[in-house]
Amino acid sequence: MIMRKKILVTGANGQLGMELQQLAPGNPGFDFVFTTRDQLPLNDLNAISRFISEHNPQYCINCAAYTAVDKAESEKDLAYRVNAEAPGVMANACKENHIHFIHISTDYVFNGNGTSPYKEDDQTDPVNLYGASKLDGEKLVMENDPNSIIIRTAWVYSEFGKNFVKTMLRLMADKEQISVVSDQYGTPTYAADLAEAIMKIISTFENHTSTSPLTTHNGIYHFSNEGQISWYDFAVAIKDIIGSSCKVNPITTPEYPTPAKRPAYSVLDKTRIRDTFNVPIKDWKASLAVCLEKIKNATK
Ligand SMILES: NC(=O)c1ccc[n+]([C@@H]2O[C@H](COP(=O)([O-])OP(=O)(O)OC[C@H]3O[C@@H](n4cnc5c(N)ncnc54)[C@H](OP(=O)(O)O)[C@@H]3O)[C@@H](O)[C@H]2O)c1
Repeated sequence: MIMRKKILVTGANGQLGMELQQLAPGNPGFDFVFTTRDQLPLNDLNAISRFISEHNPQYCINCAAYTAVDKAESEKDLAYRVNAEAPGVMANACKENHIHFIHISTDYVFNGNGTSPYKEDDQTDPVNLYGASKLDGEKLVMENDPNSIIIRTAWVYSEFGKNFVKTMLRLMADKEQISVVSDQYGTPTYAADLAEAIMKIISTFENHTSTSPLTTHNGIYHFSNEGQISWYDFAVAIKDIIGSSCKVNPITTPEYPTPAKRPAYSVLDKTRIRDTFNVPIKDWKASLAVCLEKIKNATK
């Protein structure tokens, strides 16, 4: 009998978790265990090791996170527990049980003063509490299990959950004009593309040979789609693709104050993930069109 390898996925109902669920049927060689907040509340640190040992997977993908960037400013303890302590405990449990740990982090670990795409070893300096909690998570993960893989991503959207694309679709349907920040630059990430990248990494691990030891693949990687745009550009592209008549006005960051500061520039350099795992990096607009088509078909 062929033993299927088990992949444990946290944050099953989040954007990335849902996209991994879409990929599960196409990966019959793996037995996926998708866990929700109810099954594994990450704020309950004692439950984490027990849960991981009980399921004893070969891979653990941590898609769960405290992602409410503005709310994190006033919920510091919870944000740190979920984004820093919990991944640290997970990494420890993965090391003890010889599990490959794949953890997801963020472009918000950078201060945004850069002008060229951020590389993995560039200086981190988060400007908000969410970014600081995620950076602490990265550190605890690598301290507790140096064989872990951390993927920093940015501006994630999908047909599932709450995100910029879905907010824009709602606003464009309701309003004649909207205003969107035009002085913050980055690159969107279609969660479906990130989910595929993660499965590509796992398949590389599965197909490894003794001449390419897995330990050389550990560490931090950057992944987003390709390109560099502002939130305003993103909104205009959504408007153009869906053919909306809503007017999109560019505004500056001070005109749209938020509790948490955002980095002005957070484009990620994807060279390392592309070269190491042969992960394709799709153009941001092409992926946006795919997602919008899916949303359109789902609402028909
Ligand atoms: N969204 C972005 O723009 C963005 C940008 C950069 C990096 N990232 C990172 O990418 C990863 C995936 O993000 P995403 O967009 O898929 O996030 P998401 O849609 O907000 O999903 C987060 C998931 O975490 C779960 N969760 C939150 N608190 C929890 C807790 N205490 N215990 C257990 N589960 C908990 C949520 O559960 P419920 O479904 O019950 O709420 C949800 O399923 C995260 O690590 C995030 O930090 C995201």
